[in-house]
Amino acid sequence: MKPVRAVLIGAGQRGAEAYAPYALRHPEQLKFVAVAEPNEERRRRFATVHAIPEERCYESWQDLMEQPQLGEAAIIATQDWLHTQPALAAMNKGYHVLLEKPMATSLEECEQLVEVSERNERQLHICHVLRYTQHARKMREIVQSGILGEIIDVDHRENVSFWHMAHSYVRGNWRNSHQSSPMILAKCCHDLDILPWILGQRPVMLSSKGELTHFRADKAPVKTPERCVEDCPIERECPYSAIHIYVEMLPFWYSYSQTCTNSFNKIIIETWMKKPALIRTFSHIFPFLKQVSEYNGWPLTVLAHDPTPEKIEEAIRNGPYGRCVYHCDNDVVDHQVVSMQFEEGTTVTLTMHGHSHVEHRSTRIEGTRGRLMGVLGNGGGWILVEEHRSRKKSYIDTSPPSGEGHGGGDSQLMAEFVGHVREGGYSESVKRAAREALFSHRLAFAAEEARLEQKVIPINPQDLN
Ligand SMILES: NC(=O)c1ccc[n+]([C@@H]2O[C@H](COP(=O)([O-])OP(=O)(O)OC[C@H]3O[C@@H](n4cnc5c(N)ncnc54)[C@H](O)[C@@H]3O)[C@@H](O)[C@H]2O)c1
Repeated sequence: MKPVRAVLIGAGQRGAEAYAPYALRHPEQLKFVAVAEPNEERRRRFATVHAIPEERCYESWQDLMEQPQLGEAAIIATQDWLHTQPALAAMNKGYHVLLEKPMATSLEECEQLVEVSERNERQLHICHVLRYTQHARKMREIVQSGILGEIIDVDHRENVSFWHMAHSYVRGNWRNSHQSSPMILAKCCHDLDILPWILGQRPVMLSSKGELTHFRADKAPVKTPERCVEDCPIERECPYSAIHIYVEMLPFWYSYSQTCTNSFNKIIIETWMKKPALIRTFSHIFPFLKQVSEYNGWPLTVLAHDPTPEKIEEAIRNGPYGRCVYHCDNDVVDHQVVSMQFEEGTTVTLTMHGHSHVEHRSTRIEGTRGRLMGVLGNGGGWILVEEHRSRKKSYIDTSPPSGEGHGGGDSQLMAEFVGHVREGGYSESVKRAAREALFSHRLAFAAEEARLEQKVIPINPQDLN
């Protein structure tokens, strides 16, 4: 069987770094044949890595879509506000589409995407990577096995760490809801996607509270300059210092170590944090240690291509990621709670906040026969099931193989997307998955409306039929 031929629209963090490497690992399954990317450096680099000829490199999705159909699949990984038009154009051209989340920044556009997918019978897959993790799949399997009995209450938390919040939602691309999307959509369409899927029931009403409490000028502890490197008087104590986050990288590694279930990896990271010179020395003998000592992946790649210490220093001095968190043009919330009631009476709260000590999602599911607790962080994940009567405890390690992004969700998503495209056609399960993605976005828009207008919003479960 020939590999699926794909075109990439948007060769940024997600397109080039998270999804496209699948083609390098599985050339028999997937081959990129064209790229559209306005940034010349990114475009060229992608073309070189994937051996795409010059004439198949385009500066924009429009130029690419003016060509005849070049393959079976289009992967669209542009920024949030630039999803709808390229995705519609691709489906109208005949491509099956893998589209980054959020599908679009308005409910109308999300509906339009699903409508065109169904009308044209072109597959539309949304990058709800959480669904593709072993962690979420195991939670679903456990709930649906009935071992927990009837599910009474769920407490699911998206604990965005203080440094990730500062990086993406204060200084970075998702800081301003008018330029990108409300944080509950940007960060939690994943969570709103998996909750009904795990529970096997849909919400019937929701309300929501939340605001931007901390990252505002009036919350600066003292008078601070515009940038961390401009002799900021609190740079050495501020958790949000760009130097601390991007040069020392300690919060990143700490989050990793605290959620890592592999004792060996945990020891290496903890040693690196205390004695970097030791790990650097040993990395000459054990090259795998360079994954730590020479780490230059996310979030550094957002600050600079091929990040070097010099480039990071320059980015902190002059770019958006060196700004004081109290002097940015951010307006998205730093905490929000969504309370939901589900069809069978289950109460569910989704808490998203940007002040977590450690980056992770946590879930507690209380049933009439037992409970489940789960944690998924950037270092790994685990699930604990406790049965009421027998007091039996079952522990499941849900960590992905090391180095896999998003709990292993990124590569599993690609494997399944490629599988569906190879299969061709427009199956009921593919159609259903797109409708479920739309439903999760419907919930996110409703949550934002409920928060802003302080009201309870009824949800029609039939919207997902
Ligand atoms: N699934 C997930 O868990 C997850 C995680 C992070 C981000 N995302 C989403 O992925 C998307 C991309 O995020 P990112 O961090 O990769 O952003 P990015 O800015 O790194 O990449 C977007 C790329 O699109 C390119 N682009 C801009 N205009 C274009 C045009 N006209 N034609 C073609 N390309 C164009 C940009 O130059 C850039 O390289 C966002 O919607 C984001 O919300 C999803």
